[in-house]
Parts: sequence; C-alpha cells; structure tokens
Amino acid sequence: MRRSRRRRCPVRVRSLRSSVRLPFHTFAYLHQPALGRPYSPPARNDRRRPSVEHSVESENERPRIGIYGAGKVGTALARLFVAAGHPVLIAGSPRQSALDLLVGVVAPGARVADALTLARESDIIIVAVPFGKADSLPWDEFDGRIVVDAMNYWPPIDGTIDEVEADGRSTSEIIGTRNTAARLVKSFNHLGYHEMEDDALPAGAPLRRALAVAGDDDEAKAAVARIIEAIGFDAVDIGALREGAHLQPGGPIFGRELDRTELERLAHERVTA
Ligand SMILES: NC(=O)c1ccc[n+]([C@@H]2O[C@H](COP(=O)([O-])OP(=O)(O)OC[C@H]3O[C@@H](n4cnc5c(N)ncnc54)[C@H](OP(=O)(O)O)[C@@H]3O)[C@@H](O)[C@H]2O)c1
Repeated sequence: MRRSRRRRCPVRVRSLRSSVRLPFHTFAYLHQPALGRPYSPPARNDRRRPSVEHSVESENERPRIGIYGAGKVGTALARLFVAAGHPVLIAGSPRQSALDLLVGVVAPGARVADALTLARESDIIIVAVPFGKADSLPWDEFDGRIVVDAMNYWPPIDGTIDEVEADGRSTSEIIGTRNTAARLVKSFNHLGYHEMEDDALPAGAPLRRALAVAGDDDEAKAAVARIIEAIGFDAVDIGALREGAHLQPGGPIFGRELDRTELERLAHERVTA
C-alpha cells in the first residue's frame, strides 16, 4: 500500500500526472455554481470539511452509516460521512478504552455505539477492522443488511493465513460466508486512509477520483454508490463480488488513482479478459 507524498488538505489538479495543489476551500470557492449554494471557507480551527454532498435531500433521508473499527480507515470515513450530513455510528474493539473521547476528537459528530446497537440501527454497515479480526463482528446480526467490506488481507498485519492463501476466491467472497444473508459489497479498500479526505472532490469536478463497488446485490451496490458519491468520489460498479479481487492488494485497481473513465475501462478490460 502506498504511503508516499501526502499533504495536508490539498486538492490535486491533475493534468494526466502533473499536479498543482490548491487548498480545498479555494477549489470549492471556484466551484460554487456546481455546489449550488454559497460557500464560506471554514474557520482555521474547524476540523470539519466543507460538505461535498450535491443533493438537497434532508438529513433524515440520508442513510445512517455504522462503522466497525475506530482506526485509521474508520475515523477517516466517519469524518467524511459526518461532513456529508449522514448520521454516523462507530464501534471500536472491546479493548479500546475512552472511545467517546477519541471519537469526539478525531471524528466529531459521530456517535459511539456498541457492536449490536450498530448492527441493528445502521442502514449501511462498513467493516473497517483488520481482516484477521473479522470474525469478532456480530455476523449473525447482518441478515438482509447492506455490509461494505473495506478490509484487505494484509499479511504484515494479519499474519499469513494459509486458508486464505490457498483459497482462489476474492477475500470478500470468503468473508461473505460468515453470513450469506448479508448484502455484501466490496469498496473503500483500494485507496489509502490518508487519501480518503485528501482526494474527495465535489460532483462534477474534472479531477474527481473514482471508487469501485463489487457485489452480487445490485440494490446494495447502488446504495453504496450513492454514499460514495455523497462523500466526494465517483462510484463505478465493477461487477460481482468475485471481481472484488481486482481491488485487493496486488490487483490492478488497488492503490491507483483513477477517474471514472479510467476505472470503467480498466474494470471492463479485466472482467472481459
Ligand atoms: N490503512 C489503510 O490505508 C487502509 C485502506 C483501505 C483499507 N484498509 C483496510 O481496512 C481495515 C482497517 O484498517 P485500518 O488501517 O483502519 O486499521 P487500524 O487503524 O488498525 O484500525 C482498525 C481498528 O479496528 C479495531 N477492531 C478490531 N476488532 C474490532 C471489532 N470487532 N469491532 C470494532 N473494532 C474492531 C481495532 O482495534 P484493536 O487494535 O483493538 O484490534 C482497530 O482500532 C483493514 O482490514 C485494512 O486492511 C486499510
């Protein structure tokens, strides 16, 4: 996974691979008409990003997002969803103490919940825990629920898991066996946590990055695509859950900064190859 050349709240203006960096609020100001509402730059100490939500739906209509994992990915996503106006629940591991304090500082606006409450009250569940700890989630509670697998099997963290190494399926297909009644979608796993906020851009911005969704349930994928769009990315359906293998470490989409056209083309080439 790439760990390089990150910056504080920039917006990259790409012309193929060349870049000029502007602060986000400069970019948002330049794109006021696209946002459709007046824009005020955030106060210097305001941690919240300007919302890139482009619809006018009321807060009550926005799906409640439940995130397992208050680590790097979970808190980055929580900040983005809060900024886009979604109610957000977040559950940490049983051994995390002072989680309210942590979440209050790093993801203000998100609400800490226990694992069962999160499963029962969330419209869309995002799993952002280490792959090797996936079994510690309450999978029995996920019947009929939209569950986004944002995990990667990552041996330096998870250790080498022989069954996974020997299994020809995508890791999401393997994860899906925990509860076959869950409506599993693979997404959010193919970009670094540090890129999630840096690369979010308003709808219609020419340099907007695309994120993939893979899954066997079209409605679930569409729901996940909508929340991806709401936080500042284009969403591209790359097909069935097995195609999620293309998003995994070592896969052709993993870690690559692609716009919608590039991602669609790459996914099409892979799926039809
Ligand atoms: N880092 C990235 O850039 C990146 C990008 C995309 C996807 N991912 C994937 O996303 C997942 C999370 O990555 P991360 O970097 O955010 O890891 P992280 O910083 O270690 O955060 C994961 C958190 O999940 C917690 N956790 C463990 N079991 C849990 C449970 N049952 N319920 C709730 N929380 C639980 C962990 O707590 P404990 O430490 O107590 O176990 C830890 O605080 C991994 O599968 C990773 O491969 C990572």
